[in-house]
Amino acid sequence: MENERERIMEAARQFARSELEHDATGHDWWHIHRVVTMAERLARAEGADVFVCIAAAALHDVADEKLNESKEAGLRKVSGWLERQAMTDADRAHVTDIIATMSYRGGANPPMRTLEGKVVQDADRLDAIGAIAIARTFLYAGWKGDPIHDPQLPPRETMTAEEYRRGRSTAINHFHEKLLKLSALINTPSARAIAEERHAFMEQYVERFYREWSGEM
Ligand code: ADP
Ligand code: NI
Repeated sequence: MENERERIMEAARQFARSELEHDATGHDWWHIHRVVTMAERLARAEGADVFVCIAAAALHDVADEKLNESKEAGLRKVSGWLERQAMTDADRAHVTDIIATMSYRGGANPPMRTLEGKVVQDADRLDAIGAIAIARTFLYAGWKGDPIHDPQLPPRETMTAEEYRRGRSTAINHFHEKLLKLSALINTPSARAIAEERHAFMEQYVERFYREWSGEM
């Protein structure tokens, strides 16, 4: 049983790797790798089921609506894969539920139902806060065709999921529209400590960005 779980966790990583290898939106294999590593660390600290957390972390972006024809098509791909693994129906359902509900989507989703869901969501969110997050944001903006910054395009206060995904914005606006809001949404104490430090770094970065922009420094 333990060996079989080890095999499935490794297979989940390989499946995600083959699916996301060529992604250029910041949801590439190394994002998955970091989220899996963090999910394992948080799962151990919080006493969550490590197997469920690692499997869900590895597979969480395979079903991403940006990378599939629809969210449903993405989830079918993951369910089909899970069906072929020797695991309990309960674990399969748990992993699927986490993946189906954890995405940010403009802040519209209800809270995660289980400790494992909270852990995996935290691990994914931590990758959107801090030094690596800054790099991912400019990468994504470039991929989408958004500029770095435009003083005539202020951050949007509220928006629908559709506007969040497709509306015109800027990389710097994304810090205000999402990234700087994330640390307040962290679920677990272990992740909160990491989030606060990363958040402070990101705030400093944005502040400095504006000062350079205005020619003040
Ligand atoms: P989730 O995986 O929760 O759905 P996203 O896929 O929207 O989150 O975002 C993952 C990362 O991609 C963000 O943390 C951010 O760095 C980057 N990103 C997403 N949307 C944008 C955007 N409109 N502009 C700049 N970066 C973005
Ligand atoms: Ni992710």
